[in-house]
Parts: sequence; C-alpha cells; structure tokens
Amino acid sequence: MVRVLFVCLGNICRSPMAEFIFKDLVKKKDLSSYISASSVATSFETRGEDMHIEAKAKLDEKNIPYTKRRARRLSKSDYKQYDYIIGMDESNINNIMRIIEDDPDKKVYKLLDFTNNTRDIADPWYTGNFTVAFNDILEGCKALLDSIIKKYEIDTGEEKLSTPEILKKIDNNIYNFTKITPNKFQVSEYLALASRILDIDMNISAFENSEMTDEEMLPSLEEYNKEINEYLFRFKK
Ligand code: 4NP
Repeated sequence: MVRVLFVCLGNICRSPMAEFIFKDLVKKKDLSSYISASSVATSFETRGEDMHIEAKAKLDEKNIPYTKRRARRLSKSDYKQYDYIIGMDESNINNIMRIIEDDPDKKVYKLLDFTNNTRDIADPWYTGNFTVAFNDILEGCKALLDSIIKKYEIDTGEEKLSTPEILKKIDNNIYNFTKITPNKFQVSEYLALASRILDIDMNISAFENSEMTDEEMLPSLEEYNKEINEYLFRFKK
C-alpha cells in the first residue's frame, strides 16, 4: 500500500479537499486497494473541526464524495506511517519540517512540485477563492497519482499507448455530431481515451451512470469534442 498524507495549515480547506479529490482519482482508476490517503494540519487552531462549508460545496459541485471528518495535527510519529507527506505551500513545508525534524527518506514535497509549474496553493481561508484552490489541487493530485503509478510500476490495466498513438485512435473515431449520435458506450470509450492526453475535467462514470438519453448528452459532449479537436489541430500543425 502506498500511503499519502496531505498537509495544510488548518486541515479544513486545502488538505481535506486534496484527500477527497485524490481518493476519487484513485477510485476511478480502480487503485483504492493499492493507494490510500489522509490529511492533517500543522496547527492546533482548528482541531476537531469538520471540512469548511465552501470546500464541501466545491466538492459537491464536482460530484466528488467526502465523509465527515475532524481536523487533526501532524505528529512526529506520522513520518513512519506514510510514504508521501505533501504540503500545499512553502510555509506548510517549513511547519512540517519543524514537527518531523528530519526527512531522511525524502518523503516531504509540495503538491505542485509534481507538475511542470511548481508553485504554492493559495489558502482559500484567506483568499476566499475555493475555485482556484480546487483547480490547483486537482492539477497537483493528477500529477502526484501519475508519479506514484510510474514509480511503483502499478498496473492500471490501461493499454500502453504513446501520445501520437492515442491521437491517431481518437482521430479515427472522431465523431461528427451533425451526422451521428454516439451511444453512451462509445462516448465513454472516446472520453476515456481523450482524458489520457488532455487535461479535461470529465466525469466519465457520470455519463455511464446517468439517466440522460444519448441526445441529452450531446451539448456537453460537443464541448469536449471542441477541446479535443483543437488539441488535434495544434498537434498536427
Ligand atoms: P487550510 O486553511 O490550511 O487550507 O485548511 C486554513 C483554515 C483555518 C485556519 C487557517 C488556514 N485557521 O487559522 O483557523
């Protein structure tokens, strides 16, 4: 089991959002029995509190499940219980180091260190902006999960294809929505393929499980399709 601990100042906004976003990504890849996640604070300020109401609202908006929780502070003994200790900003890293004192196994990272654009995740407790926090956390969690899958060579059951191979497959299957209406099965295959190379926030299982008719799916599908087509166009240039 690979164990991930997300850390922020209060453990009521960013780190619990990261915990539930990450768990959702892990579940969608069917890896919940290989990768676990939890979250803690560096301060005692909000001890015992549940997640912030606006953090919950953001997760609801994105259909990401969460459970009731109680904020807890990081302790020195957490170090040996986890494989990754992930802070949200530089000040979290400083506070983590003060508590654990040493990082001999190089377990401590900032979440966005896993992306190509490392930076802090601004604290929505102060900025009030839970949308930016959510988007940054999602970007970091996706990159962290990819990195874990690579490092531990976890088999995700996905056919291994290079980006040009995926693009070719998509290109061969691209739907002309003025001519045909693909069924749900075709749509989810198409989106799953596209989501492997595009940073599109798509909820594939929502399509599969929804009560929507094929026709009702079209408007959102057309949005995705526009983005996929633009990507193909840029790639071919
Ligand atoms: P978080 O935000 O670190 O993203 O959970 C905060 C929440 C509460 C406080 C500070 C930051 N506080 O001081 O109460």
